[in-house]
Amino acid sequence: MLKPISWKDWFNRRADHYDNHLMKMSYHRDGVPYEINKIKRIADGVSKNLKLINNCKLLDVGSGTGVFYQNLRPLPNSITGMDISFNMIRDACKFKYNKTMVNGEASMLPFKSNSFDRIVCYSVFHYFDNLKYAENSINEFIRVINTNGLILIGDVPFDDVNNKSITTRIPNYYCPEFLKHSLNILTYNPDFFIKYGKKNKIKCHILEQNCNQHTLGRFDVLIEV
Ligand SMILES: C[S@@+](CC[C@H](N)C(=O)[O-])C[C@H]1O[C@@H](n2cnc3c(N)ncnc32)[C@H](O)[C@@H]1O
Repeated sequence: MLKPISWKDWFNRRADHYDNHLMKMSYHRDGVPYEINKIKRIADGVSKNLKLINNCKLLDVGSGTGVFYQNLRPLPNSITGMDISFNMIRDACKFKYNKTMVNGEASMLPFKSNSFDRIVCYSVFHYFDNLKYAENSINEFIRVINTNGLILIGDVPFDDVNNKSITTRIPNYYCPEFLKHSLNILTYNPDFFIKYGKKNKIKCHILEQNCNQHTLGRFDVLIEV
């Protein structure tokens, strides 16, 4: 049995290993990086749902190297990327399109209250330890967003057929030995978000994703504050 490591360590190792942005951030199928057009298509759907405008302050939680947010349109003038993996942030700083990059974690955002107009958190929630962590993270998103802001939590995997919220996965495609660890994937019942919305008196909408293939069995959540 392989020794489990944290997702943070795993992404740090991944950032160090791959040259290709898409491989760094797990955008691949069986070790073959996706076409950038696929990312653009997903980002188009997210941009539309987030009602992006140039003049808004965007926070990308779990931004990795920033490949996703640079494909959002229109690209907001003020973008802050934040990630738990220092190595991802370090690599992000090498690219000129990146503006402010911060090392931190979703459940303890290192920002003042009411600092952003939009928040995107794409393909990150399944790396959280448990639902409590997810709830704390949403609380933080709501703390740092301005009134009338929008939050999009994207690429959330549905609970599996056995309704287990945690599944363990060991990569079975080609990848270097040091990335072959057993890691937990947290999955979600959309009710988790609906109940959160009711409890906190905010609107949570469950959305279909604007893409095909890799995100089969996943959904997006739009939160209106
Ligand atoms: C699959 S990548 C997605 C990157 C980017 N959002 C995108 O769609 O291209 C997941 C990212 O989430 C980060 N991450 C995982 N857990 C996190 C947490 N608790 N807080 C902040 N970032 C986290 C990882 O370090 C990694 O860079």
